[in-house]
Amino acid sequence: MDYQVSELRSIAWQKLQESIIFFQGEPVGTVAALDPHVEALNYDQCFIRDFISAALVFLARGETTIVHNFLLQTLRLQIKEKQLDFLEPGRGLLPASFKVVTQGSDPHTEECLQADFGDHAIGRVTPVDSCLWWLFLLRAYVKATEDFGFCHTPECQRGIRLIMELCLSARFDMYPTLLVPDGACMIDRRMGINGHPLEIQSLFYMALRAAQELLLPNQANEKTHQAVANRIGPLAQHLRQHYWLDLDRLNVIYRYKGEEYGENVLNQFNIYPESVPYSQLGEWLPQEGGYFVGNLGPSQIDCRFFSMGNLVAVLAGLATTEQAQKILNVIEVKWGDLVGYMPMKICFPALKGRDWEVLTGCDPKNRPWSYHNGGNWPVLMWLLVAAAQVGQRSVLGQWALEAAGQRLVKDDWPEYYDGKNGRLIGKEARKFQAWTLSGFLLAHAYQERPEMVDWIRFSPLD
Ligand code: GLC
Repeated sequence: MDYQVSELRSIAWQKLQESIIFFQGEPVGTVAALDPHVEALNYDQCFIRDFISAALVFLARGETTIVHNFLLQTLRLQIKEKQLDFLEPGRGLLPASFKVVTQGSDPHTEECLQADFGDHAIGRVTPVDSCLWWLFLLRAYVKATEDFGFCHTPECQRGIRLIMELCLSARFDMYPTLLVPDGACMIDRRMGINGHPLEIQSLFYMALRAAQELLLPNQANEKTHQAVANRIGPLAQHLRQHYWLDLDRLNVIYRYKGEEYGENVLNQFNIYPESVPYSQLGEWLPQEGGYFVGNLGPSQIDCRFFSMGNLVAVLAGLATTEQAQKILNVIEVKWGDLVGYMPMKICFPALKGRDWEVLTGCDPKNRPWSYHNGGNWPVLMWLLVAAAQVGQRSVLGQWALEAAGQRLVKDDWPEYYDGKNGRLIGKEARKFQAWTLSGFLLAHAYQERPEMVDWIRFSPLD
């Protein structure tokens, strides 16, 4: 039996509400998944990144309290003190996830939030993206509610400053991008994305734009404001130039010479053309398409297409207007590869053979076309629909929603799908995954009311 869209939405909304976590009697977030048949591990916690789409759904429905509580309580979990040892996370960091724990007998007075900064996570991965998403959500919250009062509190302003200081402090490398370990974002397992992965760079750019808007122009913020302004331009330029790949760029890289020394050389990163998969890319890349590559470093260009990084680049105004259209062109022309039967692939293509062995450490969960390694993640639907609205290509959003609705409800809202075209429910996917529910609801909201995308987009500074 097929459901009406309105029925699908009310089922999803009902389930999302069941996922809400309460802290001292107040709603504060949602659990990652409500699957009764699998051991929860940490899926009974509220992940910062997972809650973002839920928060936007609540904002869209005028239910702003839960978003306010989430922003405030996670801000309180932020590391405030400078550490000179390795025992504590760095100042400014926000956790990957948190849970409510009770101590003592009275459940209300003794409740507290326990944060996981990756110190419990599988593989001990560090959540670099949490603080970037937090800033993104704060800006969306302010846009939706006009609650400037909250954002202008000293507590909030300090939180923004600490995030910026963490991101903008001196490091070992001298790129405008952020250097991070593997698994520091949505892909929170080893997947060969250590270095300067696109997802983090797009989120970083978005966070800088948000901070620029949200920091008050006062003396306490003066240095941070300046540092933010100094970084935005070079970061955009670096990514638009060096990460961008279309047929013209592919031709330039194809004829690169190696071993060039000095400041003004063409092949600055010493990319060896042999490392680029020309035989596949030369055929695959549509004439009118282009996208940001997954990573760039010394003699390294990772040409995989990562959806989150590219879609956030469109929303953040990191992609120029022309680049945004080219990204949407790739998605449209390569729909079978990048979307298939479930919007959409987390990355394409999958790592196989020796690459899979070396880059994932033989991770069975990330075998080819599964989970992070080329699986299809319904949560990405909201970003796809929003990016399509930004590029005035709402038909792509429509296709995405048509592909998804009936299957998601029949399959109990899984976390991800497997297979080359996303027809198999993920081998180890949780059911009733909160961001699958909220991603679906949000995608519908943005398709129906494109003006709400204004809360989450930035215009390109080109
Ligand atoms: C998986 C995902 C991660 C998500 C978590 C909770 O580990 O890779 O991005 O936050 O599940 O849903």
